[in-house]
Amino acid sequence: MKILLVGGGAREHALALALTKNPDNELYAVAHNMNPGIARIAKEFLLEKETNGKKIAEWAKSKGVKMAIVGPDPALEAGVTDDLADAGIDCASPSKKAAEIETSKQFMRKLMAKYKIPGSIRCEVFDNAREARKYIDQLGFVAVKPIGLTGGKGVQVSGDHFKDTDGAMEYVKEVLSKGIGGSKVLIEEKLEGEEFSLQAFSDGKDIYPMPAVQDHKRLLDGDKGPNTGGMGSYSQEDGLLPFLGRSDYEDAACILQKIIEALDEDGRTYIGPIYGQFMLTANGPKVIEVNARFGDPEAMNVLSLLRSDYADICKAMISGKLSRVSIQFSHKASVCKYVVPEGYGIKPMEDQEIKVDEKTIAETGARIFYASVNEKDGKVYTTRSRAIGILAMDDSISEANKTCEKALKCISGKIFVRHDIATKELLDKRVKHMKEIRC
Ligand code: AMP
Ligand code: GLY
Repeated sequence: MKILLVGGGAREHALALALTKNPDNELYAVAHNMNPGIARIAKEFLLEKETNGKKIAEWAKSKGVKMAIVGPDPALEAGVTDDLADAGIDCASPSKKAAEIETSKQFMRKLMAKYKIPGSIRCEVFDNAREARKYIDQLGFVAVKPIGLTGGKGVQVSGDHFKDTDGAMEYVKEVLSKGIGGSKVLIEEKLEGEEFSLQAFSDGKDIYPMPAVQDHKRLLDGDKGPNTGGMGSYSQEDGLLPFLGRSDYEDAACILQKIIEALDEDGRTYIGPIYGQFMLTANGPKVIEVNARFGDPEAMNVLSLLRSDYADICKAMISGKLSRVSIQFSHKASVCKYVVPEGYGIKPMEDQEIKVDEKTIAETGARIFYASVNEKDGKVYTTRSRAIGILAMDDSISEANKTCEKALKCISGKIFVRHDIATKELLDKRVKHMKEIRC
């Protein structure tokens, strides 16, 4: 089968590998950057803006593509899935209307409130700074969020980014005056706990949840520095996390199932992977955000663990028959760390060559996923975003971490890695924190 894949990050490199496990499948890739990992796998590669739905659909149709997967959020927001559907191509990714669950935080919060979905939190949307101030004073500790997409970098939280109401108001005014992510601002109560990601396949009615993953949004060791697209992630061999028990996992899956049912009732039937970002609080999992796609880096964890054929799962999601397909994940732990350009998140060193010893990485048993890099004359160059994901799987998080670190030594250049991810020290800190707030 001819399959189209839109997107040029490490998440899409992981998707490209998962979609071509079956040699009968041929991959047609579209991305704005010449991702060397995807280019090697694809039968054909179109360098094009990932939001240019009309052009992408025309190209895919001319190649005889039968099924499409759209990876990045800006492409989902631009309605690339709808353009492909108009061209008669089935998509295992949500329509523009269904993807509003991610592209409008206001829509997501309203939907959850309307259908009384558990995991909701106190929040309000404002287009007026004075009204926003009153609400911030009322809540005390808050998260200030633009409504729309900001590449994971738009949220500011009491204690982390500002101290008091005056500090929060500086950011509220900036969001409103610059129109960051739209012309409104969302104020939420600040949640305390530990974050985790739960991704699930959806056929519009039912979900199948994947292993839970913990991403690390902050740039620096010890959860310091600015928020990023995600610096690395890990998962545990039993699909849970050191601080996340079975019933918390099931509560989160139940929330995702209810969101899928609500979207269906709202006339926005959701096909494709859905991703809940949760805060595990003293009162169980609460929704921080919902994404209409795989997470990045989380896709590298779950797609590496996936033993079943992802193309078959895509077909089952499209035909509404998820329950009829066999879905199996390896009972292994996984650790993924991102190599980013020096200065990432602040002043990234772009167009710098990175040297990658792929052969030695393969000998360690780790996998390499190319992200926002460009290949020119056989050499790999950085852009302003994350460059390369290194992932290792093993019987425990600590064994997987050792392999991941060994493989990271095979990459050199003006790069930065957050090495504390998946270390015993950081995991113990998370477990201790959860115990403290739960007692
Ligand atoms: P988001 O872009 O919505 O994923 O938020 C980025 C980061 O901000 C999250 O990973 C959390 O660490 C933090 N955050 C977002 N919303 C809240 C909230 N209501 N309470 C506490 N922290 C939050
Ligand atoms: N891991 C964060 C995201 O994909 O949005």
